[in-house]
Amino acid sequence: MTASLIDGNALSKTIRAEVAVRSAALRQRGITPGLAVILVGDDPASQVYVKHKVNDSHEAGLHSLLERYPATMAQADLLGRIRALNADPLIHGILVQLPLPRHMDANEVIETISPVKDVDGFHVASAGALMIGRPGFWPCTPYGCMKMLESIGYELRGKHAVVIGRSNIVGKPMAMMLLQKNATVTLCHSATRDLKAMTLQADVVVAAVGKRNILTADMVKPGAVVIDVGMNRNDEGKLCGDVDFAGVREVAGWITPVPGGVGPMTRAMLLVNTLEAAERAAA
Ligand code: GUN
Repeated sequence: MTASLIDGNALSKTIRAEVAVRSAALRQRGITPGLAVILVGDDPASQVYVKHKVNDSHEAGLHSLLERYPATMAQADLLGRIRALNADPLIHGILVQLPLPRHMDANEVIETISPVKDVDGFHVASAGALMIGRPGFWPCTPYGCMKMLESIGYELRGKHAVVIGRSNIVGKPMAMMLLQKNATVTLCHSATRDLKAMTLQADVVVAAVGKRNILTADMVKPGAVVIDVGMNRNDEGKLCGDVDFAGVREVAGWITPVPGGVGPMTRAMLLVNTLEAAERAAA
C-alpha cells in the first residue's frame, strides 16, 4: 500500500483564500484585522519566519507590522511595547517570535500579551482554555494538524492517537485537541520505554520531536495516518521531517510530506487566529 498524501500547500492555500474573504467582509465594516510581529535579536531562522508571517498577512488582506529590536533590548522595554500593542485598537493579534535572547524570561513576555490577542496560543490562559474546552486561541501547529485530519474526513472518535513529543507548543496541545475529538491519546516522550510498541497500536501518529527517522516503517500499523511535524536537515542539507517518509509511505494510509505538509498549515492558522481575534473584537 502506498499512502495518500495530505497536501499542506494545497490545503493552506484554500484556508488562506477563506481568510481573505472573511477579512474583506470585516474591511467592509471598517475593520482591518491587524497583526503585530515582534522580533528581538537577529536569529537567521527567526528572520525568515517573521518575514513569511508578515507577507502571508498582507496577501490575505490583513494589516501587519513588524517591530525589530536589538538583542540587547531590556525586557522592561519589550513588556512596555507589548502593553502598548495590547491597548492599540488597530492590532488584534500580537506575536513575539521565539526564541528570545537569553536574558529575557519568555514566560513573562508571553504572559504580558493580552489573552484576547494571543494568536500564537502560547499564553497560559490559552493553554488553560484548551485544556478545559473553553474558547481561546489554539497554537497554530497542532491546530493545523487538526485541520489536515479534518480535510480527509477522518473520524477521531474512538481511535488511538499517539503523539511523540511533549512540548508546550506542539505535543501537549496536540494531545488535548485529539482528546477533545474523542480519540484515545497516548503522549510519548524521551523517557517512553518502548516507543515502537506504542506507535504500532496507533491509528494516528503525530511525530513532533525534531529528530530525523524517529518513526520508521516497522513502527507503523498498516493504514495509519502519519502526521510529521518535524523540520530537520538530512546529510545533504535538505529539509526533512521526523518520519522516514520513503519507508513509512509504503505502510501508512495517509502521510504528510516535509516540506509542503504541516509547515504551510502552521502559517495559515496564524492568519485564521488573527482574523478570529479581529472578528471577536468586532462582535
Ligand atoms: N518560533 C518557532 N516557531 C514559532 C511560533 O510558532 N511562534 C513564535 N512566536 N515563535 C516561534
